[in-house]
Amino acid sequence: MAALARIRPADGGQDVVTSGHVQNLEAFEDGTVRFQFTLRAGDPGDLVKQVRAAAEGATGVTSVKMNVQLPQMGPPSARGGGLKPGSVPAPTPKPDILADVRHVVAVSSGKGGVGKSMVAANLAAAFRTRGWRVGLLDADIYGPNIPIMFGEDRRPRVTGERGKEMIEPLEAHGVQLMSLGFLLDKEQPAIMRGPLITGILKQFLEQVAWGDLDLLVVDMPPGTGDAQLSLVQTIDVDGVVMVTTPQDVATGDVRRAVKMFERVNTRVLGVVENMSGLSCPHCGEVVDVFGAGGGERLANEMKLPFLGRVPLDPAVRSAGDEGSPTVLAAPESAAGAALSAVAAAVEANLGALVP
Ligand SMILES: Nc1ncnc2c1ncn2[C@@H]1O[C@H](COP(=O)(O)OP(=O)(O)OP(=O)(O)O)[C@@H](O)[C@H]1O
Ligand SMILES: [Mg+2]
Repeated sequence: MAALARIRPADGGQDVVTSGHVQNLEAFEDGTVRFQFTLRAGDPGDLVKQVRAAAEGATGVTSVKMNVQLPQMGPPSARGGGLKPGSVPAPTPKPDILADVRHVVAVSSGKGGVGKSMVAANLAAAFRTRGWRVGLLDADIYGPNIPIMFGEDRRPRVTGERGKEMIEPLEAHGVQLMSLGFLLDKEQPAIMRGPLITGILKQFLEQVAWGDLDLLVVDMPPGTGDAQLSLVQTIDVDGVVMVTTPQDVATGDVRRAVKMFERVNTRVLGVVENMSGLSCPHCGEVVDVFGAGGGERLANEMKLPFLGRVPLDPAVRSAGDEGSPTVLAAPESAAGAALSAVAAAVEANLGALVP
């Protein structure tokens, strides 16, 4: 705050802290500092740069997350805010639902079992360690996996008056979680038809008290069905992270899934190639089992960003058994490091939308 208070937009005027340009400043143990910065009409063009430089220069600060609001951009926490001038505008917000969630990223794939839930869990955890406020919605109503991956099996609390009840997400590893798995009995199979899926997903978006989030990660069920369509029709999804395995690339399922999202005007943020080679538990060397590189070729061919490869790694399984995502349980492992890099690539591809 003291470092920021040295910046005055106008000569002789108030500094940016006193004037209320700077809001909600939070400092994290790892040296990350985040705050909201509201530009006003008449502010000098390089004010954001000055403020960022001042924050970055402050003692102990390793990373600065500025959420810049332009004067005409509506409520400070509204998603789609924080656009830098000249960047691609976010799609028109569908009002009210998730108004306090700044970014929504869905994790999807062409086929099942390729590691969507694993990637979604690790993205959520990795963004959390980068200082973002993160939620993770398990939209896999058929086979909810997120509770296990986060070692969480409490029942969520329901608050609010009758008729306006809200479900409170459960917090694990600093991430706000919601899953049908928390609400079902363990043995109860989740067999549902389309309309029911749409209903539950909508409820998860509207009736879960997500609160202020920088990012909501949505773990999708396999395929290109009701859940995918209902999600993009209910809320604005900033983009989809498409997970594929090297073999999956050959089948055309990924291509079809990408096309489906394009048809409903949803941006694909990029492709992750999972199970890309095997990280040897003894020497750490990555052995190419199925033929790596297909994900990257596919991304290039479809003009999509390539977000990285994640090797098959025993650390993923052991992290899963412990109920913590690999980026937290084994950050140094081949998969842990690869998943952190994927998160960084996703952050970069969220474009000029600053957290
Ligand atoms: N890179 C990896 N290394 C080791 N094991 C992995 C890796 N990626 C995924 N797995 C394991 O493979 C299995 C399937 O992964 P996951 O559940 O994330 O896939 P999914 O795409 O979400 O599946 P579904 O379509 O059923 O939802 C899990 O047991 C997971 O722990
Ligand atoms: Mg899954």
